[in-house]
Amino acid sequence: MIVRSWLFVPGDSERKLKKGRGNTADALILDLEDAVSNDRQTLAREMVCDFLRTNPERSTQQLWVRINPLGTELSLPDLAAVIPGAPDGIVLPKVYSAADVNTLSHYLSALEASEDLPEGSIKIMCVATETASSLLTFHTYLDHVTHRLVGMTWGGEDLAAALGASDNRNPTTGEYDDPYLMAKSLCLATARAIDVQPIGVVFVDFRDLDGLEAECLRERRAGFIGKIAIHPAQSDIINSAFTPSDEEVAYAKKVVAVFEQNPNLGTVGLEGKMLDMPHLKQARNVLLMGGRIN
Ligand code: COA
Ligand code: MG
Repeated sequence: MIVRSWLFVPGDSERKLKKGRGNTADALILDLEDAVSNDRQTLAREMVCDFLRTNPERSTQQLWVRINPLGTELSLPDLAAVIPGAPDGIVLPKVYSAADVNTLSHYLSALEASEDLPEGSIKIMCVATETASSLLTFHTYLDHVTHRLVGMTWGGEDLAAALGASDNRNPTTGEYDDPYLMAKSLCLATARAIDVQPIGVVFVDFRDLDGLEAECLRERRAGFIGKIAIHPAQSDIINSAFTPSDEEVAYAKKVVAVFEQNPNLGTVGLEGKMLDMPHLKQARNVLLMGGRIN
């Protein structure tokens, strides 16, 4: 299953946890980091673990947990508290390089052993661009990264703080400034290079659903699959934007078929258009996305 919509839910809100479970998001990210104030950290850990334990059925909605960054004293107690609930995965914020992801993987191996969970069953998604260093260390993912890493997203808010910026957008156009566009592109390229899911950034203006849809479609054209949500109303829009339409699937099937019928040709014609290898790859991507979603 490809997770299209990933809905953040503050880990200390009973009401939002309940609402999230009834929502169409493919995954919830139960947050122990920024959505939780320091004085509610212990309570949030307990609530998240209870929620995981009471919701073992994950076939239509996965349950992930965002822990605090590895450099803080909160991260290990976060992990120790939630692994007994067997989350589908951990979202790791504020990484410096692939080394952080690999360190988390070792912690997970130890905790899986102590909880009698299958080794490697808990996956990782990282928020890859929230520190200044992270923009310079993407190559480390190509050297070695754990198989637990299945997705990568980026963020522009913490990155702005890390870069000393007072704003991360062009005041005239509202578009992200250069460093954030670079972060987005590096996230996409790295995720594709190591064959993990590139996931679109949060869209914070949660009342602007048309704007959300336009951004989803732009990101899908660029190669991203799926997007982070912060409000329940965003999930349906994200799900449909990242589900190939019947026409797209039908066309992709034709493209694959025409290459299969002409195994010795690198270039073929279909409906008056020239097709070559990149088109075949694209068609296979569409079928993969459609097949694994439906
Ligand atoms: N998950 C689950 N339920 C949510 C939700 C979320 N992320 N955001 C809102 N809801 C619920 C509300 O509790 C409310 O439920 P109710 O009808 O039972 O009262 C309903 O959806 C409508 O919410 P609304 O009034 O439109 O928004 P709000 O003002 O209550 O909340 C935010 C706005 C931004 C505070 C909220 O969406 C939120 O907490 N988002 C997640 C924040 C987060 O986790 N950030 C960290 C990652 S960037
Ligand atoms: Mg906090």
